[in-house]
Amino acid sequence: MSMTDEAPRLIERPVAAAAEPQAAEPPPAAERDVVFRSHDVNVYYGAFRAVRDVTFDVPKNEIMALIGPSGCGKSTVLRCYNRMNDLIKDARVTGAITYRGTDLYDERVDPVEVRRRIGMVFQKPNPFPKSIYDNVAYGPRVAGQKKGLDDVVESSLRKAALWEEVNDRLNDSALGLSGGQQQRLCIARAIAVGPDVLLMDEPCSALDPIATARIEDLMQEIKQDYTIMIVTHNMQQAARVSDTTAFFTADVRSENDTRTGILVEVDTTQKMFSNPADERTENYVTGRFG
Ligand SMILES: Nc1ncnc2c1ncn2[C@@H]1O[C@H](COP(=O)(O)OP(=O)(O)OP(=O)(O)O)[C@@H](O)[C@H]1O
Ligand SMILES: [Mg+2]
Repeated sequence: MSMTDEAPRLIERPVAAAAEPQAAEPPPAAERDVVFRSHDVNVYYGAFRAVRDVTFDVPKNEIMALIGPSGCGKSTVLRCYNRMNDLIKDARVTGAITYRGTDLYDERVDPVEVRRRIGMVFQKPNPFPKSIYDNVAYGPRVAGQKKGLDDVVESSLRKAALWEEVNDRLNDSALGLSGGQQQRLCIARAIAVGPDVLLMDEPCSALDPIATARIEDLMQEIKQDYTIMIVTHNMQQAARVSDTTAFFTADVRSENDTRTGILVEVDTTQKMFSNPADERTENYVTGRFG
């Protein structure tokens, strides 16, 4: 089930981001192919500016990898796209992020609805201590769905490439699954609410190569229905799965001892890994730094 083009707006009246370029002509075709636009995004934790001046677009039905050394702000940036930073005390986001033309941070936008449309999968699989079935049915039930749950559970588990392994034990505890199975269950749980975008923060870092390959295959299969942003420390993974790559690093100012995450460049993954524009990207992707 895809929410893509038919997805209703988060609020009725779209609010153009302040930074949105003024198009004299009708919006370019590319406009329709962009899910998020981010302009001059800064994230603060209290007085500490963790990330500054991040500007890039996220293309639709593609996989974008966010890479960069530890502490450069990848998770912080990722959390901006489903307003998870709202849940962190003292965190503050400035700048503009639009989701399909709507200001994601408009006060009329409901963050709960945002997180339904824009799901998240974390580094450590975090199934609920419930049955496999109840994990996947959880989101639809919270949304008030009572009928057709069996179908939602089956189709979500199939999309997450887990159905064949668990269909004879749906009432067993999810905690009895292997790590790789648990991660696919978390993907099924995220898919079950019919999201539009999946944000994945190092989803394979706790998995063996076989489970990792399954998740990577799965990402390729589902990207026709979803837009995916993935944070990864695994360069081969970024090169294998993503269409575009954004490289972040920490800008260290020794005079006042601050470290702030910055976006160095974003481009097609092919270009980023073969002929990046910035030397810092080249050093990172070839393993000479970070
Ligand atoms: N909840 C928080 N409160 C205060 N500071 C935070 C918080 N979360 C992250 N930071 C700080 O923000 C900066 C960026 O952290 P972030 O976790 O986004 O980096 P990252 O690139 O995801 O790193 P890693 O690759 O290790 O996961 C770091 O300096 C970190 O200490
Ligand atoms: Mg992180």
